[in-house]
Amino acid sequence: MKIAIIGGAGGIGSSVAFNLLRTQTPYEIVIIDNRDNMIVSHVMDLQDALSLGGASSIVGGQMSDAFDADVVVLSAAVPLTLNTSRDVYLAANADIVGGIVDQLVAGGFAGILLLMTNPVDPLLTWIARRTGWSRQRLLGYTLNDVQRFRTGIAQALGVAPQRVTCWVVGEHGAGAVQVRSSIRLDGEPVTLTDEQFAHALDYAQNWYVRHVALDSGRTSTWSSGIGGALMIEAMAHPTSAPFPASVILEGEYGVFGISSSTPILLGAYGLEKVIESELASDELQQIQSVAAKIDELSRSLNH
Ligand SMILES: NC(=O)c1ccc[n+]([C@@H]2O[C@H](COP(=O)([O-])OP(=O)(O)OC[C@H]3O[C@@H](n4cnc5c(N)ncnc54)[C@H](O)[C@@H]3O)[C@@H](O)[C@H]2O)c1
Repeated sequence: MKIAIIGGAGGIGSSVAFNLLRTQTPYEIVIIDNRDNMIVSHVMDLQDALSLGGASSIVGGQMSDAFDADVVVLSAAVPLTLNTSRDVYLAANADIVGGIVDQLVAGGFAGILLLMTNPVDPLLTWIARRTGWSRQRLLGYTLNDVQRFRTGIAQALGVAPQRVTCWVVGEHGAGAVQVRSSIRLDGEPVTLTDEQFAHALDYAQNWYVRHVALDSGRTSTWSSGIGGALMIEAMAHPTSAPFPASVILEGEYGVFGISSSTPILLGAYGLEKVIESELASDELQQIQSVAAKIDELSRSLNH
């Protein structure tokens, strides 16, 4: 399985590469970026990591090397700055990902696009309209929202986060809907007190703003890297376990033609099936109103 990571010399691209190298799946990984020296730096380092185990190959490459990839991970972006919303990057990152996607179209790319660049939902909505690619091939990375909600719930309950499962739907951003009824501990429904739920929500909803305010110049490279690799593993070895992703909704939650996060089944060709979360009426209203915002943002990109 060939995986081309465009923006691969950056923080999350290189972390996805590292985490793929740690699997036992024989991926052929190609790192593509507009910083040639950083490509060489990561490839030299990762090739030596490979000597200690793992079952993949890793090389640097150019855009044309992505044309026959099974999956393109797209994380190319402008550098992180102080902000309180991913939406500030919409126009600048659309310039970058639009140029890349146009080259993929011209080069006959027929694989799956896994978009990590923010803001994921309006950019993916815009890419779907620009390319006409089926929604099966278009995935946006949103697993971090679930990771953060899980961590917040685990803190509130005083348990290990691996014991918690839950779903987050809607926007990868301030319009995320943390679904209260989806919370499970060791697979069993668990009821949080209002105070515990408020803690979990505060952790999940304010994580991004707190992290960016550190002005560290880096994004969530570790959690996104492992999450991106897990998402690719779920396509390489499909199971019946639902996975969160931003996908173009076609009537689910009453939303049409707009990308938002939802549980899905992943397969060798990308999106296999959308699994609609059961939502309370206020949660459903929230996903619908944030979809209207995502639509507006995507339509503001008129190039
Ligand atoms: N979806 C998520 O959950 C999630 C999580 C973390 C980060 N992100 C987003 O992912 C993006 C990347 O984050 P990062 O930490 O890797 O940033 P980064 O700045 O470390 O890396 C971005 C890379 O893109 C490269 N690049 C820029 N323009 C390019 C072009 N035209 N062609 C090829 N490469 C190009 C840069 O050289 C750089 O190496 C950001 O938009 C960030 O907000 C999303």
